[in-house]
Amino acid sequence: MKRSDVTGNEVFFDPRTFIVSKSDPRGIITQVNATLLEVTGYREDELLGSQHNILRHPDMPRGIFELMWETLRSGDAFYGFMKNRCKNGDHYWAFAYVKPEHRGGELLGYRSFRRVPQREMVELWAGHYQRMRALEEKTPTRDQCRVSRQWLNKWLRKQGVPDYKSWMLRSL
Ligand SMILES: Cc1cc2nc3c(=O)[nH]c(=O)nc-3n(C[C@H](O)[C@H](O)[C@H](O)COP(=O)(O)O)c2cc1C
Repeated sequence: MKRSDVTGNEVFFDPRTFIVSKSDPRGIITQVNATLLEVTGYREDELLGSQHNILRHPDMPRGIFELMWETLRSGDAFYGFMKNRCKNGDHYWAFAYVKPEHRGGELLGYRSFRRVPQREMVELWAGHYQRMRALEEKTPTRDQCRVSRQWLNKWLRKQGVPDYKSWMLRSL
């Protein structure tokens, strides 16, 4: 996605609601709620059957998604701050809780619940993502996630937390 595909304009959603989507095990969207449609400006038929990366904003580092998928594939839930792109190039920030869903030991897919984040968290993570993206952009593709995650892990250690999830759980 090109930088020219985004407007820089932030949109907001109702703090009493959640933006919800559900996917199959590969991340293909299988269900969305009305709030997601309202905020992103997509029609339901444009989202169902698409990859979740249709929502990806170019400011989001690749390292975060690698961490997300690693966490989900290990069977754990993922928490994180997301800057998502709307259909018209605007964006919105959300705090996402993504979890695997199983039935009788079989992985059915994943579900994401996104709520309005605290403003100071948006400011903190926007800064982190900017640093991570800058590192990724000057690194060959195959090493991008490694360098940006290394930076994040160093920051987490400086905060005195053992890992990403512990920090997220403390910030809830
Ligand atoms: C349930 C679920 C929800 C997701 N929600 C988002 C989201 O809101 N925004 C986003 O950019 N990626 C989301 N992803 C991650 C995408 O599948 C994808 O890994 C990410 O957008 C990076 O895509 P890319 O590597 O093709 O650029 C979600 C994945 C799952 C399984």
